[in-house]
Amino acid sequence: MGERVKFEIEGQIGIATLSRPEKLNALDTKTRLELKEVVEEAEKSVRVLVITGSGKAFAAGADINELLQRDPIKALEATKLGTELFSRIEELEIPVIAAVNGYALGGGCELAMACDIRIASEKAKFGQPEINLAIIPGAGGTQKLPRLVGLGMAKRLVLTGEIIDAQTALRIGLIDEIVEHERLMEKAMEIAGKIVEKSPLAVKIAKKALNASLGMPLREGLRYEASLFSLLFASEDAKEGMRAFLEKRKPEFKGR
Ligand code: CAA
Repeated sequence: MGERVKFEIEGQIGIATLSRPEKLNALDTKTRLELKEVVEEAEKSVRVLVITGSGKAFAAGADINELLQRDPIKALEATKLGTELFSRIEELEIPVIAAVNGYALGGGCELAMACDIRIASEKAKFGQPEINLAIIPGAGGTQKLPRLVGLGMAKRLVLTGEIIDAQTALRIGLIDEIVEHERLMEKAMEIAGKIVEKSPLAVKIAKKALNASLGMPLREGLRYEASLFSLLFASEDAKEGMRAFLEKRKPEFKGR
């Protein structure tokens, strides 16, 4: 934590900023390890994490200097680190918002896809250009992109390596919203602020249920949802939420 990834806390919101702008925040091993530490810390200390980049990139992908040094064994180890980091982000007990400020390419696009909510500056650009290097996405691109944008569009992006602008990313469902560049963090904090107001228990369980939706057959998913739904009735927060509604006042959630 520190040199490549800055971590700040504002209220109950954590902000992780990839800070290697001179290399377009390319995700070398050091950056990945620092991001892993930040993510672990955020889960313990804040209610929502926002990930963004400094300079003109969110992240321009894996560090190509490191890629060139790899043999298949090293490549497997390295991609495991990347995939595990992104899975950890996906499964983090708090929501993670990607505030995409610029290039999100290769591993950078995969990092954004590992987040729960994606907003982007009008200057953002997305793509999986690995095919230009005669490799393929190695941290989820071929598996997650089809789930977000459909198989046809995913094939087009992965097979051509085309870089798309924020408008196209919005149209195909890769991001949720485009924001004026200068207002990107403000918007991310506004979304995070809405989540912070909710019961942390309900937020955590909702994320769990949503994450399960793509990996389970519908019947099984519905059963899983029903058990998580009923579990929340054991919480003081659920009682408080319902009482506050009926008493026409703001709820005071305690996270239990
Ligand atoms: N790895 C290492 N260095 C990188 C990098 C990367 N992925 N992307 C950019 N850089 C470096 C450049 O080499 C350059 O360094 P120097 O100043 O020392 O020459 C610096 O960052 C600035 O980049 P550019 O001069 O290229 O900036 P630009 O504005 O002309 O172009 C760009 C921007 C189109 C994003 C271009 O940098 C680019 O195409 N980057 C590579 C993108 C890419 O192929 N990403 C996929 C990597 S593979 C991967 O991610 C595998 C996986 O699935 C995990």
